[in-house]
Amino acid sequence: MNYQWYPGHMTKARRMMQEDIRLIDLVIELLDARVPYSSRNPDIDELGKNKARLVLLNKADLADGRRNRIWAEYFRERGCLVAEVDSRNGAGMKQIQELIREACREKTERDRKRGILNRPVRAMVAGIPNVGKSTFINTFAGKACAKTGNKPGVTKGKQWIRLNRNVELLDTPGILWPKFEDQAVGQKLAVIGSIRDELLQAEELAMWILNFLRAQYPGNLQERYGISEEGTDIDVFGKIAEARGCLQKGGQPDHQKAAGLVLDDLRSGRLGRVTLELPEPYAARQTFGESRGSEGGENENTEITGCSRQQDALHE
Ligand code: G4P
Repeated sequence: MNYQWYPGHMTKARRMMQEDIRLIDLVIELLDARVPYSSRNPDIDELGKNKARLVLLNKADLADGRRNRIWAEYFRERGCLVAEVDSRNGAGMKQIQELIREACREKTERDRKRGILNRPVRAMVAGIPNVGKSTFINTFAGKACAKTGNKPGVTKGKQWIRLNRNVELLDTPGILWPKFEDQAVGQKLAVIGSIRDELLQAEELAMWILNFLRAQYPGNLQERYGISEEGTDIDVFGKIAEARGCLQKGGQPDHQKAAGLVLDDLRSGRLGRVTLELPEPYAARQTFGESRGSEGGENENTEITGCSRQQDALHE
């Protein structure tokens, strides 16, 4: 499979980010908690250097709780402020105001020394498509906040949402592009539905999921489809097709339909809360991929170098 992101879109997204980032003090970087490494574009480190940073593991409700904690710890160790959130129902939002304050403490202190008091922190949300940026802004900003409108001179054409006395949020999120140099990254983003899967790819993605779940979340397929997980991935796929009545006219399994079903079930959490990758120190201990010798499971290098200005001290 070959995943694409049109260069034109990428250039435009980068230009917009570069423009908007000049206006703000804090980048709120959204990652998908199921794939924190693959949903992260490290270009943000360059784009957002000299800005305060906050990392949110969004869609934490769909990801494995234990692995959420592992990832959160991993980012903390690298000097990031981080929180797990579910933007759809608002879980985890309460702590964010406090984290924003913490992230911007240095800046507030600098302002204070220069005699600038009460200048609100300006923040923007950034992340790759579908990571939940708009949902987050809507939930976080809520109904209580008024849009502040254009600010002549400084923020021409930009809308700011005043969250409280201290924080203003740019109402248009920064769009980062997925990184495609690594096909395993593209594949995982396609699995979670973050980049579009062409019909032709559905079967391949479904097989990847089966291979992955059987290795790392044994029992989830059995629980969902009432089938035994014994046999090869293809056997299991056939059993799912049969159990769910995905059959062609002649009674042959309809793989395309079964693949769509498996993909939908994974993406919506009906196959359990799953996280598709672990940070490097944990990934090294996983046998997934080696034991089955299948393409689905390699834990590629999920090393992330850091994300806040404090990182300089901690940088490995
Ligand atoms: P974007 O701006 O980054 O492109 O993402 P957007 O907010 O449009 O969210 C993409 C999809 O992810 C939406 O689902 C949204 O509801 C869902 N989503 C966002 N945050 C969370 C979360 O924390 N948990 C869960 N479970 N889902 C989340 P959709 O199916 O495309 O739209 P809809 O059916 O929800 O309207």
